[in-house]
Amino acid sequence: MKSSPLAADRTEQDDRAEFRAAVLDGLAGSPRSIPAKFLYDARGSALFDAICELPEYYLTRTETGILRRCVADIAAVAGPGRALVEFGSGSSVKSRLLIDALEHLAAYVPIDISRQHLEATATRLRRDYPGLVVEPVCADYMALARLSVDVGAARRLGFFPGSTIGNSEPQDATAFLRRARELLGEGGALVLGADLKKAPQRLHDAYNDAAGVTAQFTLNLLRRMNRELDANFDLSAFAHDASYSEVESRIEIYFRSLRQQTVTVAGRSFAFRAGDRVLTEYSYKYDDASLSVMARSAGFRIARIWTDPARDFAVAYLEVGT
Ligand code: AVJ
Repeated sequence: MKSSPLAADRTEQDDRAEFRAAVLDGLAGSPRSIPAKFLYDARGSALFDAICELPEYYLTRTETGILRRCVADIAAVAGPGRALVEFGSGSSVKSRLLIDALEHLAAYVPIDISRQHLEATATRLRRDYPGLVVEPVCADYMALARLSVDVGAARRLGFFPGSTIGNSEPQDATAFLRRARELLGEGGALVLGADLKKAPQRLHDAYNDAAGVTAQFTLNLLRRMNRELDANFDLSAFAHDASYSEVESRIEIYFRSLRQQTVTVAGRSFAFRAGDRVLTEYSYKYDDASLSVMARSAGFRIARIWTDPARDFAVAYLEVGT
């Protein structure tokens, strides 16, 4: 994929402006929060890759294992000649399982906000699959209403793995799924990965790893604000704070001030008392009932669902209609 340096520069400035506006808005609000998508700058993405390798973080390896066992079933249910549309072109390991299994794949359409990420993904896939039509789309997939690329008459198969859906509160998750259903169009379907409810201690450990990588991932957001927004967060004066709420069925992640202090961000001052927190992420956990309610309120129905033997994680095949 080619892009002029000018276009790339403009995108970076847009990104910076969006980050600035979201942070100033989020720190002025109450409760304070910053959208989770800003955790993924280059260093944040590398730290997330490291999280996926942690012994406590079962999600990625469990989902990949399920996919390995169920891709043949997915290919059979989906039928031949699909265009595969991936929301967020993350780990190509999972996409490749589908690309390998689907019959007469018409195109692969990775959607990602990061142009660099997209270009790297597209280049690798075109090299490894010379016959495959790769049509990258640089966009925020959470806000995308239609595809800007032409995949002809091919019925679309969406792919949204990793339980990324769990970052969104139920209303937003449903709104996203509804838009995805429209984008996927007639005969469309969606393969959705979702983390399941389980013993609170295991959930707690998955977001409080012994090696402290998840803490680095959260605190990297402070580092990013320091670099990109001319902020002066003292990284040793804040802590990663992750806990599971059984009432809300979600992990809640914050950074917490360890003392009273004032921080400057993009020329504005924000006061923190000891214990004050800023929300950086929710990670919702589901069961069959909550998944099916979410699917149905977005106009999908769960046609199939695959899990691992321990029922830690689910891969669902959603079809349009009730
Ligand atoms: C990528 C959103 C699925 O919620 O488990 C992992 C992000 N944050 N550890 C998750 C995350 C801290 C992850 N998702």
